Amino acid sequence: MRGKLTIGNWKMNGGLTANSALLVALLAGWKAPGGRSMGVCVPLPYLGQARDVLAGSAIAWGAQDVSTHASGAYTGEVSAGMLAEFGCRFVLVGHSERRQLHGETDGVVAAKAAAGLNGGLTPIVCLGETLAERDAGQTQAVVGRQFDAVAAVLGMRMALVALAYEPVWAIGTGRTASPAEAQAVHAFLRQRLGAAGAEEVKVLYGGSVKAANAAELFAMPDVDGGLVGGASLDANEFLAIAAA
Ligand code: 13P
Repeated sequence: MRGKLTIGNWKMNGGLTANSALLVALLAGWKAPGGRSMGVCVPLPYLGQARDVLAGSAIAWGAQDVSTHASGAYTGEVSAGMLAEFGCRFVLVGHSERRQLHGETDGVVAAKAAAGLNGGLTPIVCLGETLAERDAGQTQAVVGRQFDAVAAVLGMRMALVALAYEPVWAIGTGRTASPAEAQAVHAFLRQRLGAAGAEEVKVLYGGSVKAANAAELFAMPDVDGGLVGGASLDANEFLAIAAA
């Protein structure tokens, strides 16, 4: 049983006061119903705050990016070891916003996944096609290429990551993949995992997940939960998604 995992990706949102209200409301409201778990990936300056509020609770926390390097002269970068020291369990790698806006290649994403694992974190490897790629019938080719780049570096250690299928056309657009569209890509990814984790790797769905659509998405056999952007900033909405 893989169980369901819902991760909030706050992106570059929040502040000390708003975070405190959100985290306290999540703590108060999260009953961790059977087989369900929750985490939040917060902006780096707030990792200490997340740790202080959430330590010892059933809610995990993590970061949204990590350096490919372990230490050294890399101004502005943050290592997996540093994230682990702040109690992070998860780190997002290869989010489409980092691929598109920060020029992260498949190779960089693979190196970040490896760095996260080496630092004791669970990388959540994000994959997804653009609308133009979907319309051109290239969804499996694109997602498969993104997957293979990471698998080439991790090998059997793919079993230790989580995957997040996030179609770029569904992120922040209000347009969600249908349960059948999501399931098709998730099944493809699970087949790709093969002996390297098909049974145990969680494959999350991301892209305009909200309380109103989470249950039907998470009911799909290969959808193991969600990676939630905008709706994770609203405690009631996020709690309802994670319980779906
Ligand atoms: P939205 O839920 O705001 O569409 O964002 C999805 C996402 O990018 C999560 O990583």
